[in-house]
Amino acid sequence: MDKKRVFSGIQATGSLHLGNYLGAIKNWVKMQEQFDNYFCVVDLHTITVPQDPEVLRNNIREVAGLLFAAGLNEKSSVVFIQSHVRAHAELAWLLNCITPMGWLHRMTQFKDKSEKQKEDVSVGLFDYPVLQAADILLYDTHFVPVGEDQKQHVELSRDIAQRFNYRYGDVFVLPDAMIPPVGGRVMGLANPEKKMSKSEDNKNDAIFLLDSPDQIRSKLKRGTTDSMRDIKFDETRPGIYNLLTIYQLLTGKERSEIEEHFSGKSYKDLKEQLAEVVIESLRPLQERYRELTGEEGYLDEMLSIGAEKADARAEEKLRQVYKKIGLR
Ligand code: AMP
Ligand code: TRP
Repeated sequence: MDKKRVFSGIQATGSLHLGNYLGAIKNWVKMQEQFDNYFCVVDLHTITVPQDPEVLRNNIREVAGLLFAAGLNEKSSVVFIQSHVRAHAELAWLLNCITPMGWLHRMTQFKDKSEKQKEDVSVGLFDYPVLQAADILLYDTHFVPVGEDQKQHVELSRDIAQRFNYRYGDVFVLPDAMIPPVGGRVMGLANPEKKMSKSEDNKNDAIFLLDSPDQIRSKLKRGTTDSMRDIKFDETRPGIYNLLTIYQLLTGKERSEIEEHFSGKSYKDLKEQLAEVVIESLRPLQERYRELTGEEGYLDEMLSIGAEKADARAEEKLRQVYKKIGLR
């Protein structure tokens, strides 16, 4: 009865990639029996940068479908779309009013993203971490399983919760980030100095979860390596290190075993074998995705069940918050 609560979110910015899978989703699936889980497609976060409405609508459904296809099930996990539960936007406003601007100015993700857009940056992008805090705090979340890039945002959520509790009395649980020891930062294939990301201009940088076997083989084949020969987990050689780490995460083998297996083999062998491992790992997910999106109405039904459950819990929390602040 007393399972700890887990909450995490994922943006609807186009196809999910191996970094999302290994850094986040795979762990959500693996831990789902152990916790009481809420997983959210954060579409209100997605619109902090410009989106085409039709494309956005499709992306939201694709991401939600992929979450179920990856193995989340409605018995153990509440899966829903953020904008279907009004409390998220509402709590974000209330938290805005106690969050110092200075805290947000320190967020590295905002600095990175805003640099690319300059004057066009929306207020929403600046406020993004407060909405994320609202997501997390609405559900009395203990743990937030995310990739390394989200650590700072989860810490900010904790600070906001603490500030609120100090000012108005205990309302929020203080959340902790849960970052996988390996896989928290999967790097790009073309540029292994940077994390694999959806927005990377080079289309060969990321393996997407719905890529065909040929696309996977071709992207890995072109992956950046180095001019050495031996195949070792050596962090000073980011290309090879990243490929080996992906291999490790997907096969579950020990590092020593993997190094032994590839001893005397070429980079070409590594890339070819890794391609087959990736293809086989994604195959069941891709099959389930096709099945469940082929079934008329199935996804909508699942998402409406999710939204209803999330809404009930979130509304209750929101009521407490209004009362504490003196608005009720
Ligand atoms: P996003 O697609 O930015 O909404 O991220 C969804 C989840 O995937 C978050 O928990 C991220 O931290 C995680 N994630 C995104 N990119 C990577 C990556 N390259 N390596 C590991 N985790 C990642
Ligand atoms: N900011 C997260 C990302 O880019 C997505 C997110 C939104 C999230 N709300 C969240 C993650 C709440 C964890 C918990 O990946």
